[in-house]
Amino acid sequence: MSIAFRKTDATRSDHRLSEFAEAVIAGLSSNPKTLPCRFFYDARGSDLFEEITRLPEYYPTRVETGILERGGAALIDDVAEGATLVEFGSGSSIKTEMLLRNGRISSYVPIDVSQSALAEAEARLRLLFPGLDIQPLVADFTADIRLPPLERGSQVVGFFPGSTIGNFTPGEARDLLRHMARLLGPGSRLVIGVDLQKKRETLVAAYDDSAGVTAAFNLNLLHRMRRELGARVNVENFGHRAVYNETEHRIEMHLVSRETQAIEVAGESFSLAQGETIHTENSCKYTPEGFADLAAGAGWRVRRVLTDDERLFSVMLLEAD
Ligand code: AVJ
Repeated sequence: MSIAFRKTDATRSDHRLSEFAEAVIAGLSSNPKTLPCRFFYDARGSDLFEEITRLPEYYPTRVETGILERGGAALIDDVAEGATLVEFGSGSSIKTEMLLRNGRISSYVPIDVSQSALAEAEARLRLLFPGLDIQPLVADFTADIRLPPLERGSQVVGFFPGSTIGNFTPGEARDLLRHMARLLGPGSRLVIGVDLQKKRETLVAAYDDSAGVTAAFNLNLLHRMRRELGARVNVENFGHRAVYNETEHRIEMHLVSRETQAIEVAGESFSLAQGETIHTENSCKYTPEGFADLAAGAGWRVRRVLTDDERLFSVMLLEAD
């Protein structure tokens, strides 16, 4: 399977609304029904995700931050002075600080679809790192983007934390890693956060927390359809489900229809049986070896692997062939 890299100019946000409508129609028309997880992150969804990262059950953010605090700067200590850091889906650029403290990075290219998140992060980093050249790029990182002109001979380091790679199927992940290798160039590095396989209970709790924040995050997709597309949908008639698919080594999130009902959107009506689900997210979990094989197929060699003591999460340093 391959990702459809959008060939159009991804920096034009005036097409986002209809893009959402198109994705909703396509997803609800398919069998089984799906909705793409990248639409979770409107303003409300981004706030809910922030809240998720602070939940006791949601270990990934806390553990990855710990790994980067302890070993992030040293991880790139063999990178040449004056390197360029390119971050995919940079958001608030909080974890980035742990790499920038290393002192070898002189340029930073944060890539994100949110103009406001980029502006806020840039203002904060300018105060913390006055000498840093920051060139934000408003874009979807899966699109066919171009980097700004780099300082001659500047070594390029990619940064893709958060195990966002897990939202792609292994086939899509390989395509995305190949896309990144092409964008960053031969000899470049990639610091990537990869969530690890572990016991089912720990995983399910992380994606179905006791405070119900992840449920609200999942259900926000339906609220967003009402807000932005004028969809007619009774959100109270849906529930949240997180299951660990042991064969595929992935957490799946679904919206479960509690009764027979219909969703009306953009002049179309989609019926759901009682118990039918809309699959909204995959979060794939790897072993360090399994991920190294996947990366090798995309032109990346693993140079170093950092994990926490409980081996819940990993941060890997890759090098492009
Ligand atoms: C943003 C991809 C890291 O898969 O763990 C959190 C998103 N979904 N809780 C993840 C998410 C439900 C998250 N990532």
